[in-house]
Amino acid sequence: MNESLQTILTRRSIRKYSDQPISEDHVQWMLRAGMSAPSAGNEQPWEFILITNHDKLKRVPEFHPYSKMLTGAALAILVVADPAKVKYEGEMQQLWIQDCSAATQNILLAAHSLGLGAVWLGVYPDPSRQNGMRELLNIPEDMVPFSIISIGYPIEPKQAADRYDETRIHREIW
Ligand SMILES: Cc1cc2nc3c(=O)[nH]c(=O)nc-3n(C[C@H](O)[C@H](O)[C@H](O)COP(=O)(O)O)c2cc1C
Repeated sequence: MNESLQTILTRRSIRKYSDQPISEDHVQWMLRAGMSAPSAGNEQPWEFILITNHDKLKRVPEFHPYSKMLTGAALAILVVADPAKVKYEGEMQQLWIQDCSAATQNILLAAHSLGLGAVWLGVYPDPSRQNGMRELLNIPEDMVPFSIISIGYPIEPKQAADRYDETRIHREIW
């Protein structure tokens, strides 16, 4: 198996971290990976907020019930959507959701390949999580806080999860 497949197949959500800080170089690679994601019409409707301040990280669980791991994280990256960048109208205007999901997944994979542990925390579409992030980080009304990626050096061992399921595969027809 090659290294890229190895990274994809062994990634797990990591929620326990050491105190070791993350280098600027590693942060750059993760952001580059995020910005390399595919997006509809190459619209790239994303912005990223880096959060290392522990007083701020500790406030997130006040409005996000499944985010306690942030209190021990070295870094969080908030993926923020800019829906105005979407080139399409009507139902297709929602394509920023897929775009920002792809960016989030790329960051998770980059973190894992750099020896970091990370977990995706859902923000959108929950209104109170979105408002909490908006107020905490002064995010403008026309931007949408989409996901938080909690990151640090892992101190919990996690096995790869083999979720391959032949019964989910349909060949040529449902
Ligand atoms: C859209 C989305 C939202 C998630 N939100 C949370 C969350 O709020 N808190 C959390 O601890 N994990 C969250 N997760 C991580 C999932 O719990 C995790 O990916 C899933 O249990 C599979 O485990 P694995 O990532 O280790 O393979 C989220 C994952 C996704 C894709």
